Amino acid sequence: MKIKLFTLLLIILSIYLHPINAQNSDIENKVNELLSKMTLDEKIGQMNQYNGFWEVTGPEPVGGNAKMKYEHLKSGRVGSMFNITGVENVRKIQKIAVENSRLGIPLIFGYDVIHGYKTISPIPLAEAASWDLKAIELSSRIAAIEASAVGLNWSFGPMVDISRDPRWGRVMEGAGEDPYLGSKIGAARVKGFQGNDLAASNTVAACAKHFAAYGFSEAGRDYNIVDIGTSTLYNVALPPFKAAVDAGVRTLMNSFNLLNGIPATGSSFLQRDILKDGWAFDGFVVSDWASGREMIAHGYASDLKQVAEFSLTAGSDMDMESYAYISHLKELVEAGTVPISIVDDAVKRILRVKFELGLFDDPYKYCNAEREKTLLNHPDHHKAALDMAKKSIVLLKNKGNLLPLKKEKQKIAVIGALANDKNSPIGSWRAMGEDNSAVSVLEGLSAYPENTIKYAKGADLTQGRTSVLFELKINETDKSGFAEAIELAKKSDLVIMVLGEHGFQTGEGRSRANLDLPGVQQELLEAVYQANKNIVLVLMNGRPLILNWAEEHVPAILETWHLGSQSGNAIAQVLYGDYNPSGKLPMSFPRSVGQIPIYYNHYSTGRPNPSNLVYWSHYNDESNEPLYPFGFGLSYTNFKYSDLKIDGSDQKNIKVQVNIKNTGTVKGEEVVQLYIHDKFASVTRPVKELKGFEKIELMPGETKNIKFLLTDKELGFYNNKGEYLVEPGEFEIMVGTNSKDVIRAAFELQ
Ligand code: BGC
Repeated sequence: MKIKLFTLLLIILSIYLHPINAQNSDIENKVNELLSKMTLDEKIGQMNQYNGFWEVTGPEPVGGNAKMKYEHLKSGRVGSMFNITGVENVRKIQKIAVENSRLGIPLIFGYDVIHGYKTISPIPLAEAASWDLKAIELSSRIAAIEASAVGLNWSFGPMVDISRDPRWGRVMEGAGEDPYLGSKIGAARVKGFQGNDLAASNTVAACAKHFAAYGFSEAGRDYNIVDIGTSTLYNVALPPFKAAVDAGVRTLMNSFNLLNGIPATGSSFLQRDILKDGWAFDGFVVSDWASGREMIAHGYASDLKQVAEFSLTAGSDMDMESYAYISHLKELVEAGTVPISIVDDAVKRILRVKFELGLFDDPYKYCNAEREKTLLNHPDHHKAALDMAKKSIVLLKNKGNLLPLKKEKQKIAVIGALANDKNSPIGSWRAMGEDNSAVSVLEGLSAYPENTIKYAKGADLTQGRTSVLFELKINETDKSGFAEAIELAKKSDLVIMVLGEHGFQTGEGRSRANLDLPGVQQELLEAVYQANKNIVLVLMNGRPLILNWAEEHVPAILETWHLGSQSGNAIAQVLYGDYNPSGKLPMSFPRSVGQIPIYYNHYSTGRPNPSNLVYWSHYNDESNEPLYPFGFGLSYTNFKYSDLKIDGSDQKNIKVQVNIKNTGTVKGEEVVQLYIHDKFASVTRPVKELKGFEKIELMPGETKNIKFLLTDKELGFYNNKGEYLVEPGEFEIMVGTNSKDVIRAAFELQ
């Protein structure tokens, strides 16, 4: 499977002809000057990244892999380390590289800073439910401030994978199912991590991952293959990456998956044609953990030497833990199989980012013990985490206005192991967030002494150890606590049941084939319901769950995800109405696993309409509709939409306006959502596509007039060649409180 000479020539040509986009020609000069001094070994060293490997503050490693890594650090054969944290550790490793290697090139230190470093914010899927770009940007900003205070200068985030499959455990890391919302959030996170000045000591380089289409893992099983059409690739999977690049993201990580038969790490189509040539990206691409080596298991590269050849030729600049470049690149270059120009291009990209970070001015600039001492868990960070947590909560049901809770002498039963769990809310991908450090629901409720709270666990959610590394064992049998919970429910005016997923039930390697409440929780819910129907169900989970029974029976349901350090405080404040919930679902909640993938922006079939005969597109045993649609979320007040008007007189700026009135009795925030439908196009368009939203606050009785502008940017689409087109014809405009409940108008694009 030799790469054809012609393809290679094209790659080399594109490297030379491509205008470097860096704003700073000074940096370009420095990069070139340094490159000219480097030996081939040193160049390859920059492209090699290692995971942390030994107790850094202990004695030197004596043998094996650790010894080898140590020696490579000393001889300039490592460009980056990851999973090393703390000023003392980072300083020590940096010193080994800078003081021993011939050119003293500083390392860049990466880490998965996904939703906070020490102060933990809600999981990204929860934050996406806020639809609050400023708050999300701040969340990533704070994560960067804390990470950069411990020596780190590179976050392996944001994760911008779109996914339509809640079975996939990694949906908790992203922004959900929609490319428009996902693009806005991705860009906000890049700004948050990188700030306005990458050289500042409290900003870090961001990394948009996983390039590309990893969120479409077949059947929701992690690491599975991806086989999607070009329309979905261009219009759904790629836009958030493009938005991150446009926002100036300095690195991308490629992905574990095959995309239509080619491993992403070996895909020149993705990394060169689209990213580097098409989007003029001048930062660097890092592989995912040993994703290069995995090309052997995929049946693409036959050995590690081919891994090196295929990955680099395809545009994967830095090798994370495959040991392919360090082992084989030299012989490949010397044999003429890989041209030196491709190596030089990769090295320049890496050095460019290091210069931009200011690492050459001061390799220890992120190693400030004072900052480390004062900034981690800073009260301001917790204040922002609490605000973010409140904004992330979604009210799914509130029959008879059971919520907000009244602050009077009520007897409230709190039931469920998760109510007393300080660990699960920290969620998956918790960086250095400490185990058991979240405010639990019980602790949060204790701030409201007006009611009497009594707690019964009901049942354990897990059995045995809970670890991020190993499979969780869920309690499927032990119901010995049911009786106590039922007794308590009987004696109480109201029951708050906190049910859902353990914090380690989502994330990498944590796909689920069933999306019900895990273990005996559903049985517990039904048993308690028999004793007291006045239930508020508080859900804690990292993905959409199947909640049909609860929706049918339980009067009030609050989706609180895994909300991070301040979880219990946020939940209590929402339960008591001190904060009026305003979150909207960033993913559809299915009625059954058989409906998956289920997403609002689907195409129309040729047989969309119900008929007396069976020959229309439907299930015989389930509705086509999700239980809760994308964009859904209630408030303690109500909003009325009216007077949708479109002014198409300026065809380049279509003006849409709508009135929204708060018809209830309390102040509330609403996310006004605008969807379009391009009715006939050369490549069929989905029945609905989000193309605008605005979060507004309205006092009781207040009406606001909200305006949207639709330009070519919103009205076009990518055809199957990846070309962006805006086609004339009729467009339907839908505005509403979620993707289902909308008011409609139309206009003609000439
Ligand atoms: C994950 C990445 C992560 C990397 C480094 C991989 O297993 O897929 O998202 O950044 O590990 O921790």
